[in-house]
Amino acid sequence: MDSKNMMKKYIERIERFFDTKKIINERISLEYIQDYYRSSILAYKVLHTFRGYMHMGISFDGKYKVSDLLTSVKIVEGYIKDRKFSHILELASGNGVNSSYLVCRNPDLEIIGIDLSTNPKKSVKGYRHINGDFHDLNTLKDNSMDLIFVIEALCHSQNKEEVFRQCFKKLKKRGLFIVFDGYSRKSKLSKKYMETISLISKSMAVDRFISLEEFRTLANKFNFKIIEEKDFSSNVLPNAERFRKISNVYFSSYILHKVLTKIFPMIELQNLISLNLLSLSVKNNLLCYYMHVLEKN
Ligand SMILES: C[S@@+](CC[C@H](N)C(=O)[O-])C[C@H]1O[C@@H](n2cnc3c(N)ncnc32)[C@H](O)[C@@H]1O
Repeated sequence: MDSKNMMKKYIERIERFFDTKKIINERISLEYIQDYYRSSILAYKVLHTFRGYMHMGISFDGKYKVSDLLTSVKIVEGYIKDRKFSHILELASGNGVNSSYLVCRNPDLEIIGIDLSTNPKKSVKGYRHINGDFHDLNTLKDNSMDLIFVIEALCHSQNKEEVFRQCFKKLKKRGLFIVFDGYSRKSKLSKKYMETISLISKSMAVDRFISLEEFRTLANKFNFKIIEEKDFSSNVLPNAERFRKISNVYFSSYILHKVLTKIFPMIELQNLISLNLLSLSVKNNLLCYYMHVLEKN
Protein backbone atom coordinates (compact mmCIF):
# COMPACT_ATOMS: atom_id res chain seq x y z
CA MET A 1 0.00 0.00 0.00
CA ASP A 2 1.39 3.46 -0.84
CA SER A 3 1.85 5.98 1.98
CA LYS A 4 -1.12 8.11 0.83
CA ASN A 5 -3.59 5.23 1.08
CA MET A 6 -1.95 4.00 4.24
CA MET A 7 -2.49 7.39 5.90
CA LYS A 8 -6.15 7.34 4.84
CA LYS A 9 -6.58 3.90 6.40
CA TYR A 10 -4.78 4.94 9.58
CA ILE A 11 -7.03 8.00 9.98
CA GLU A 12 -10.16 5.88 9.52
CA ARG A 13 -8.87 3.55 12.23
CA ILE A 14 -8.05 6.45 14.58
CA GLU A 15 -11.59 7.79 14.07
CA ARG A 16 -12.94 4.55 15.48
CA PHE A 17 -10.90 5.04 18.67
CA PHE A 18 -11.05 8.80 19.28
CA ASP A 19 -13.41 11.73 18.79
CA THR A 20 -11.14 13.38 16.22
CA LYS A 21 -13.43 16.41 15.63
CA LYS A 22 -13.24 17.23 19.33
CA ILE A 23 -9.44 16.89 19.29
CA ILE A 24 -9.12 19.16 16.23
CA ASN A 25 -11.24 21.82 17.96
CA GLU A 26 -9.27 21.66 21.23
CA ARG A 27 -8.01 25.02 22.52
CA ILE A 28 -4.32 24.68 23.36
CA SER A 29 -3.50 27.05 26.23
CA LEU A 30 -0.29 27.21 28.28
CA GLU A 31 -2.12 25.28 31.03
CA TYR A 32 -3.05 22.60 28.49
CA ILE A 33 0.60 22.25 27.40
CA GLN A 34 1.70 22.03 31.04
CA ASP A 35 -0.94 19.40 31.76
CA TYR A 36 0.01 17.43 28.62
CA TYR A 37 3.71 17.25 29.55
CA ARG A 38 3.10 16.60 33.23
CA SER A 39 0.78 13.69 32.40
CA SER A 40 3.07 12.29 29.74
CA ILE A 41 6.36 12.08 31.69
CA LEU A 42 6.35 8.28 31.84
CA ALA A 43 5.22 7.87 28.21
CA TYR A 44 8.07 10.10 27.01
CA LYS A 45 10.57 8.16 29.11
CA VAL A 46 9.40 4.81 27.79
CA LEU A 47 9.17 5.94 24.17
CA HIS A 48 12.39 7.96 24.00
CA THR A 49 14.76 7.01 26.79
CA PHE A 50 14.76 7.03 30.57
CA ARG A 51 17.54 9.63 30.31
CA GLY A 52 14.88 12.29 29.70
CA TYR A 53 15.36 13.41 26.08
CA MET A 54 12.00 14.49 24.66
CA HIS A 55 12.81 15.03 20.99
CA MET A 56 13.33 13.11 17.77
CA GLY A 57 16.54 11.26 17.05
CA ILE A 58 18.29 12.42 13.89
CA SER A 59 19.74 9.34 12.17
CA PHE A 60 22.22 9.33 9.32
CA ASP A 61 22.33 5.61 8.53
CA GLY A 62 18.62 4.90 8.15
CA LYS A 63 18.39 3.12 11.52
CA TYR A 64 17.28 4.62 14.81
CA LYS A 65 19.70 4.41 17.76
CA VAL A 66 19.31 6.03 21.20
CA SER A 67 22.54 7.94 20.49
CA ASP A 68 20.71 9.70 17.60
CA LEU A 69 18.90 11.72 20.28
CA LEU A 70 22.22 13.53 20.76
CA THR A 71 22.61 14.66 17.13
CA SER A 72 20.86 18.00 17.62
CA VAL A 73 22.69 18.90 20.83
CA LYS A 74 26.02 17.93 19.23
CA ILE A 75 25.31 20.33 16.36
CA VAL A 76 24.64 23.09 18.92
CA GLU A 77 27.90 22.16 20.66
CA GLY A 78 29.75 22.50 17.33
CA TYR A 79 28.62 26.12 17.01
CA ILE A 80 29.50 26.85 20.64
CA LYS A 81 33.04 25.52 20.17
CA ASP A 82 33.58 27.12 16.77
CA ARG A 83 32.66 30.55 18.01
CA LYS A 84 34.09 30.14 21.52
CA PHE A 85 30.71 30.97 23.09
CA SER A 86 30.12 30.79 26.82
CA HIS A 87 26.68 32.21 27.68
CA ILE A 88 23.89 29.96 26.48
CA LEU A 89 20.13 29.93 26.93
CA GLU A 90 17.99 26.88 26.18
CA LEU A 91 14.30 27.56 25.65
CA ALA A 92 11.98 24.69 26.66
CA SER A 93 14.83 22.81 28.25
CA GLY A 94 12.54 19.94 29.31
CA ASN A 95 14.34 17.66 31.75
CA GLY A 96 17.52 19.70 31.38
CA VAL A 97 19.37 16.86 29.68
CA ASN A 98 20.53 18.77 26.57
CA SER A 99 22.08 21.56 28.62
CA SER A 100 23.49 19.17 31.24
CA TYR A 101 25.20 17.24 28.42
CA LEU A 102 26.75 20.50 27.19
CA VAL A 103 28.01 21.75 30.58
CA CYS A 104 29.40 18.33 31.51
CA ARG A 105 31.51 18.27 28.34
CA ASN A 106 32.31 22.01 28.38
CA PRO A 107 32.80 23.07 32.03
CA ASP A 108 33.39 26.75 31.14
CA LEU A 109 29.84 27.20 29.85
CA GLU A 110 27.11 28.99 31.75
CA ILE A 111 23.75 27.73 30.63
CA ILE A 112 20.27 28.78 31.67
CA GLY A 113 17.32 26.58 30.76
CA ILE A 114 13.70 27.70 30.93
CA ASP A 115 10.72 25.36 30.84
CA LEU A 116 7.05 25.63 31.66
CA SER A 117 6.25 22.16 32.90
CA THR A 118 9.43 20.64 34.25
CA ASN A 119 11.62 21.29 37.25
CA PRO A 120 14.71 19.06 37.14
CA LYS A 121 15.83 18.14 40.65
CA LYS A 122 19.41 17.16 39.81
CA SER A 123 21.71 20.19 39.92
CA VAL A 124 24.63 20.31 37.50
CA LYS A 125 27.45 22.85 37.86
CA GLY A 126 27.15 25.54 35.19
CA TYR A 127 23.47 24.89 34.54
CA ARG A 128 20.59 26.87 36.08
CA HIS A 129 16.96 25.97 35.53
CA ILE A 130 14.15 28.52 35.49
CA ASN A 131 10.58 27.28 35.74
CA GLY A 132 8.76 29.66 33.41
CA ASP A 133 7.35 30.64 30.05
CA PHE A 134 9.78 31.35 27.20
CA HIS A 135 7.57 34.21 25.95
CA ASP A 136 8.81 36.22 28.90
CA LEU A 137 12.61 36.45 29.26
CA ASN A 138 12.50 39.74 31.17
CA THR A 139 14.44 38.40 34.16
CA LEU A 140 17.48 37.97 31.86
CA LYS A 141 19.78 40.84 30.86
CA ASP A 142 19.51 42.25 27.33
CA ASN A 143 22.46 41.54 24.97
CA SER A 144 23.80 38.91 27.38
CA MET A 145 23.52 35.63 25.44
CA ASP A 146 25.93 34.22 22.86
CA LEU A 147 23.56 31.52 21.75
CA ILE A 148 19.92 30.59 22.32
CA PHE A 149 18.62 27.20 21.22
CA VAL A 150 15.30 25.41 21.26
CA ILE A 151 14.59 21.82 20.33
CA GLU A 152 11.04 20.91 19.29
CA ALA A 153 9.17 23.47 21.33
CA LEU A 154 8.85 26.69 19.35
CA CYS A 155 5.94 24.89 17.65
CA HIS A 156 4.05 25.11 20.97
CA SER A 157 4.12 28.91 20.93
CA GLN A 158 1.06 30.76 19.73
CA ASN A 159 2.98 34.02 19.74
CA LYS A 160 6.23 33.25 17.93
CA GLU A 161 6.73 36.94 17.13
CA GLU A 162 7.13 37.55 20.86
CA VAL A 163 9.64 34.69 21.19
CA PHE A 164 11.68 36.10 18.29
CA ARG A 165 11.48 39.61 19.78
CA GLN A 166 12.66 38.38 23.20
CA CYS A 167 15.49 36.28 21.75
CA PHE A 168 16.69 39.15 19.57
CA LYS A 169 16.83 41.37 22.67
CA LYS A 170 18.71 38.84 24.82
CA LEU A 171 21.31 37.91 22.19
CA LYS A 172 24.59 39.75 21.77
CA LYS A 173 25.37 41.13 18.32
CA ARG A 174 26.18 38.21 15.98
CA GLY A 175 24.70 35.85 18.57
CA LEU A 176 22.97 32.74 17.28
CA PHE A 177 19.42 31.43 17.61
CA ILE A 178 19.23 27.72 16.71
CA VAL A 179 15.84 26.10 16.19
CA PHE A 180 15.07 22.41 15.58
CA ASP A 181 11.39 21.94 14.82
CA GLY A 182 8.56 20.54 12.75
CA TYR A 183 6.67 22.59 10.12
CA SER A 184 3.94 22.27 7.59
CA ARG A 185 5.88 21.79 4.35
CA LYS A 186 3.46 23.83 2.26
CA SER A 187 1.69 27.12 3.01
CA LYS A 188 -1.49 26.04 1.24
CA LEU A 189 -3.14 22.65 1.57
CA SER A 190 -6.54 21.11 0.88
CA LYS A 191 -9.06 21.10 3.74
CA LYS A 192 -8.58 17.34 4.16
CA TYR A 193 -4.80 17.64 4.61
CA MET A 194 -5.18 20.69 6.87
CA GLU A 195 -7.40 18.54 9.11
CA THR A 196 -4.84 15.74 9.13
CA ILE A 197 -2.07 18.13 10.19
CA SER A 198 -4.38 19.63 12.77
CA LEU A 199 -5.18 16.20 14.21
CA ILE A 200 -1.46 15.47 14.55
CA SER A 201 -0.60 18.86 16.06
CA LYS A 202 -3.47 19.03 18.56
CA SER A 203 -2.79 15.49 19.76
CA MET A 204 0.70 16.65 20.70
CA ALA A 205 -0.45 19.92 22.33
CA VAL A 206 0.60 22.09 19.39
CA ASP A 207 -2.09 24.52 18.27
CA ARG A 208 -0.80 24.79 14.69
CA PHE A 209 2.35 23.89 12.79
CA ILE A 210 3.43 27.01 10.95
CA SER A 211 4.83 26.61 7.45
CA LEU A 212 8.52 26.86 6.62
CA GLU A 213 7.71 30.04 4.73
CA GLU A 214 6.15 31.62 7.84
CA PHE A 215 9.27 30.75 9.84
CA ARG A 216 11.57 32.39 7.27
CA THR A 217 9.35 35.48 7.21
CA LEU A 218 9.55 35.76 10.99
CA ALA A 219 13.35 35.47 10.93
CA ASN A 220 13.56 38.26 8.35
CA LYS A 221 11.12 40.45 10.21
CA PHE A 222 13.31 40.36 13.32
CA ASN A 223 16.50 41.05 11.41
CA PHE A 224 17.94 37.58 11.84
CA LYS A 225 20.06 36.25 8.99
CA ILE A 226 19.50 32.56 8.20
CA ILE A 227 23.05 31.23 8.05
CA GLU A 228 22.14 27.55 7.90
CA GLU A 229 18.92 25.77 6.98
CA LYS A 230 18.89 21.96 6.96
CA ASP A 231 16.06 19.62 6.06
CA PHE A 232 16.33 16.67 8.48
CA SER A 233 12.91 15.22 7.55
CA SER A 234 14.31 11.99 6.15
CA ASN A 235 16.70 11.73 9.12
CA VAL A 236 13.89 11.72 11.70
CA LEU A 237 11.97 9.05 9.76
CA PRO A 238 13.67 6.04 11.44
CA ASN A 239 12.57 7.41 14.85
CA ALA A 240 9.10 8.27 13.53
CA GLU A 241 8.74 4.80 12.00
CA ARG A 242 9.55 3.30 15.39
CA PHE A 243 6.74 5.40 16.90
CA ARG A 244 4.37 4.22 14.16
CA LYS A 245 5.08 0.57 14.91
CA ILE A 246 4.74 1.00 18.70
CA SER A 247 1.45 2.91 18.38
CA ASN A 248 0.14 0.25 15.96
CA VAL A 249 0.07 -2.15 18.90
CA TYR A 250 -2.35 0.21 20.65
CA PHE A 251 -4.51 0.73 17.56
CA SER A 252 -4.69 -3.00 16.86
CA SER A 253 -6.99 -3.62 19.83
CA TYR A 254 -10.10 -1.65 20.74
CA ILE A 255 -10.34 -3.61 24.01
CA LEU A 256 -6.81 -2.53 24.94
CA HIS A 257 -7.81 1.07 24.15
CA LYS A 258 -10.89 0.81 26.41
CA VAL A 259 -8.82 -0.65 29.27
CA LEU A 260 -6.11 2.01 28.93
CA THR A 261 -8.67 4.86 28.90
CA LYS A 262 -9.63 3.71 32.42
CA ILE A 263 -6.01 3.93 33.59
CA PHE A 264 -4.38 6.80 31.69
CA PRO A 265 -5.59 10.38 31.13
CA MET A 266 -7.05 11.04 27.65
CA ILE A 267 -4.56 13.86 27.02
CA GLU A 268 -1.75 11.27 27.25
CA LEU A 269 -3.43 8.59 25.13
CA GLN A 270 -4.27 11.09 22.38
CA ASN A 271 -0.54 11.49 21.81
CA LEU A 272 -0.62 8.03 20.22
CA ILE A 273 -2.44 9.62 17.27
CA SER A 274 0.52 11.83 16.41
CA LEU A 275 2.92 8.93 16.95
CA ASN A 276 0.85 6.83 14.56
CA LEU A 277 0.72 9.47 11.81
CA LEU A 278 4.04 11.30 12.09
CA SER A 279 6.13 9.21 9.67
CA LEU A 280 3.28 9.03 7.12
CA SER A 281 2.81 12.79 7.23
CA VAL A 282 6.53 13.27 6.49
CA LYS A 283 6.46 10.69 3.67
CA ASN A 284 3.40 12.44 2.20
CA ASN A 285 5.17 15.82 2.33
CA LEU A 286 2.69 17.32 4.78
CA LEU A 287 5.11 17.85 7.65
CA CYS A 288 8.85 18.40 7.59
CA TYR A 289 11.61 18.70 10.17
CA TYR A 290 14.23 21.44 9.91
CA MET A 291 17.16 22.99 11.70
CA HIS A 292 17.65 26.75 11.33
CA VAL A 293 20.66 28.68 12.51
CA LEU A 294 19.87 32.38 12.70
CA GLU A 295 22.38 35.12 13.36
CA LYS A 296 21.47 38.43 14.98
CA ASN A 297 22.39 41.17 12.51
C1 LIG B 1 8.97 18.16 23.02
S1 LIG B 1 9.46 18.78 24.58
C2 LIG B 1 11.17 19.15 24.24
C3 LIG B 1 11.98 19.31 25.49
C4 LIG B 1 13.47 19.53 25.24
N1 LIG B 1 13.70 20.63 24.35
C5 LIG B 1 14.15 18.30 24.72
O1 LIG B 1 14.80 18.40 23.69
O2 LIG B 1 14.08 17.26 25.37
C6 LIG B 1 8.73 20.38 24.61
C7 LIG B 1 8.97 21.17 25.87
O3 LIG B 1 8.52 22.50 25.64
C8 LIG B 1 8.08 23.04 26.87
N2 LIG B 1 7.30 24.26 26.58
C9 LIG B 1 6.23 24.35 25.78
N3 LIG B 1 5.78 25.64 25.76
C10 LIG B 1 6.61 26.35 26.57
C11 LIG B 1 6.66 27.73 26.96
N4 LIG B 1 5.78 28.62 26.53
N5 LIG B 1 7.65 28.11 27.81
C12 LIG B 1 8.56 27.20 28.28
N6 LIG B 1 8.55 25.88 27.95
C13 LIG B 1 7.58 25.47 27.10
C14 LIG B 1 7.30 21.89 27.48
O4 LIG B 1 7.12 22.07 28.86
C15 LIG B 1 8.22 20.70 27.12
O5 LIG B 1 9.12 20.45 28.16
